[in-house]
Amino acid sequence: MSLPVILVTGGAGYVGSHTVLELLNNNYTVVVVDNLVNAHKDKGADLPEALRRVERMTGRTVYFHSVDIQNKEELTRIFNHYKIDCVMHFAALKAVGESCQIPLTYYQNNITGSSVLLEVMKNHGVYKLVYSSSATVYGIPQYLPLDEKHPTGQGCTNPYGKSKYFVEEIMKDLCSSDPLWAIISLRYFNPVGAHESGEIGEDPLGIPNNLMPFIAQVASGKLPRLQIFGSDYNTHDGTGVRDYIHISDLSAGHVSSLKCILKPDYTGFMAFNLGTGKGYSVLDVLKSFEKACGKKLPYDLVPRRPGDIDSSYADATLSKKTFNWTATKGIDDMCQDTWLWQQKNPNGFKSQ
Ligand code: NAD
Ligand code: WQD
Repeated sequence: MSLPVILVTGGAGYVGSHTVLELLNNNYTVVVVDNLVNAHKDKGADLPEALRRVERMTGRTVYFHSVDIQNKEELTRIFNHYKIDCVMHFAALKAVGESCQIPLTYYQNNITGSSVLLEVMKNHGVYKLVYSSSATVYGIPQYLPLDEKHPTGQGCTNPYGKSKYFVEEIMKDLCSSDPLWAIISLRYFNPVGAHESGEIGEDPLGIPNNLMPFIAQVASGKLPRLQIFGSDYNTHDGTGVRDYIHISDLSAGHVSSLKCILKPDYTGFMAFNLGTGKGYSVLDVLKSFEKACGKKLPYDLVPRRPGDIDSSYADATLSKKTFNWTATKGIDDMCQDTWLWQQKNPNGFKSQ
């Protein structure tokens, strides 16, 4: 019997490409749609570079289509062509700061895009979807660790975070309207790192907004110093604490949740945290990265970044209980694999 066909939206991006690798290693057939708004494809190449490397690493085919999920006609053509069993929905714009400058673009892309996708799925009788959500939906934590019962949508300070929350709400309504729907929302904490081969990883455009790729570029000499945003937080050393999760653990979590959602009797909306349950401060991460790269890294303590919180870390017991997934890699693995990727690919996926 052939294994299910999975449609992956945004599969050329950071989390998507690592999950495509994991899906292929588990023998699923993978169709990717991505409009390449945040993924690199060499001129004349058939595939975005991340997926070309995934094909090389797995010896399997990725069925890639350059499609915007907001385009109902093109998406319909994909669903007419393949017999899709389940969708994994990664496609979104994700830069927090940019979302405050161009909120309409974010709402259109992330919310309209998701709703077009859901409509086309419904038209084709495809009712199973795994959604890339974010711990950002919890807003300012009322308690820690954050479990899935924590209120959502209160204190989401930026349009990006709100778009992730609104889409979850749309999905809940859809599941209430029709018991055929089965939707798993995976709330990621802070995904970092790269595949242990150093062949695929995170390739931010311009100066990175997030901590780990920023530190990696300081270590490689591309950026002069790290600025640590805030040293007066209520944490063990005053710097912000987050639940960093290795990208390979995160991808494995997707495949575990997929096995669960593909069971014929699985229905309804459920959200699950994907995190390690452990929090590390900015200085903890810096120390671990210094170990990985073998040198001291320069930094300045600067004022807090607006919108940041003291601490965020997951209670991930529901994922363990429901689909038997737990994170296995620690902060040192995350830093080592980021550093390997950075050294092997100083220009990311671009050849120069
Ligand atoms: P990414 O930008 O690397 O990947 C997203 C991919 O989607 C890109 O390849 C982009 O080209 C594509 N895309 C965007 N809009 C599209 C559209 N309209 N049609 C088709 N393709 C489109 O981002 P990522 O870090 O891999 O994030 C993937 C998902 O995970 C996003 O939904 C994001 O909100 C969520 N998420 C990410 C993080 C994180 O820190 N990386 C944390 C929590 C949640
Ligand atoms: C981590 C810590 C910073 C950069 C963001 C999004 C969130 C989610 C994941 C998608 C914080 C500090 C950072 C720097 C620093 N994305 N920092 N200097 O803010 O927890 O989460 O990415 O859903 O929605 O908001 O991650 O990596 O930006 O920051 O001191 O140059 O590092 O203040 O304490 P964050 P981050």
